[in-house]
Amino acid sequence: MEARGKTVYLPVLEVKDSPRFTWRRLSLDVSRCFFTVEEVKQVIDMLSLYKMNVLHIHLTDNQGWRIEIKKYPNLTATGGHMPNEGRKGGYYTQEQFRELVEYAASRFITVVPEIDIPGHTAAMFASYPELKNAVTLDLNLNIAGQALGALDADDAETMQFVEDVITELAVITPGSYLHIGGDETMGLSDEKFIRFINQTRQFVLNNRKKMVGWQEICRADIKEGDLFQHWIYLTGNMDQTDEREDSMISGLPPEVLKLLMETFSRAGEDVEKGVFKQAGAIVSPSGFVYLDHRYLEPSADPLQTDEQERLGMPAYPKQTIEQMYNWDPSTFNPLLRASENIAGVEAAIWCETISNFRELQFLLMPRLAGVAEKGWFKVEHTNWDEYKVRLSSHPPLWEQADWNYFKSSLVDWK
Ligand code: ACM
Repeated sequence: MEARGKTVYLPVLEVKDSPRFTWRRLSLDVSRCFFTVEEVKQVIDMLSLYKMNVLHIHLTDNQGWRIEIKKYPNLTATGGHMPNEGRKGGYYTQEQFRELVEYAASRFITVVPEIDIPGHTAAMFASYPELKNAVTLDLNLNIAGQALGALDADDAETMQFVEDVITELAVITPGSYLHIGGDETMGLSDEKFIRFINQTRQFVLNNRKKMVGWQEICRADIKEGDLFQHWIYLTGNMDQTDEREDSMISGLPPEVLKLLMETFSRAGEDVEKGVFKQAGAIVSPSGFVYLDHRYLEPSADPLQTDEQERLGMPAYPKQTIEQMYNWDPSTFNPLLRASENIAGVEAAIWCETISNFRELQFLLMPRLAGVAEKGWFKVEHTNWDEYKVRLSSHPPLWEQADWNYFKSSLVDWK
């Protein structure tokens, strides 16, 4: 076999290996920062390198709508080009989306598209102002790209729009799952939220797909076969209050902060409900797998100081790569039992602070490799001390692909 121009001899051997969890996933936010088809293909290559098998693509949010829906052209004409702190807009045509799906499939990766509803919908309201907004709170968030608003489950035309969008999305998605979002619907009553998720779930099922949603969907009538994504899980370093003084969270009006805290405080209750309803869990505990945490330890390369300071959500405490590696999907939350409840592990990268593909790479690597390992290895086979030695030999692979990465000073890079 050839490797880096040299012939390498491997002994005759039999490899017995299999993944710990069925789904090993990454959620990529292309709404806050749009990435081209060629760039997303490189993200798929990263997943393939680490034997991950789902690209969950967060196609819509307040800052942009990124998928062509033929019945509603304004979604991309207007929603694809929202004001977004100077970042270029964009969207995928259905043909381009199919190209991505095929590219992923050829690497054994399934694409799960997300339309984030009923909240996170400013781009939808900008595109079709006639959609009915069920949130009547009139608060000026004063944060670029943020908006309170939620589609109204009790408005027939709005729900027709939702059904049409889900139907078109189902046609271009060969995989079994559609992700319907469902997170952070601040200001929406529980009753309306539940009615919205129940109806949307039915649209998904009518199209012979299965539903995934963020953990708040457990409040609705979800069932076995549905998946909920457990994301609300803060960890460590929460005493870094000075660091976070100018953060997005502390910049929120007190009424909104209260609503957000209320959402967070229901995290355990959501998970209990999901387990009781026998839905599967995708574990995405934000404190361990949200890769937009800023890096805490210094870089071994002083030239990375600027990227390190700029990139990552200021609202989160900074975390070392060791802190974010030290968790176990089966035990971090005793409400979940790995064998019965956990269907998979998913990292997420949110792109509010990212403006280009190099910056995305900087936050993805090296932490993505650590999350992939949690999805594959049995936990007794891993610990930080031996993992960091194995990790130290990965950069030649990344450099060959011209991928940027954070040169953590905690690793003795080869
Ligand atoms: C999320 O991070 N709002 C799912």
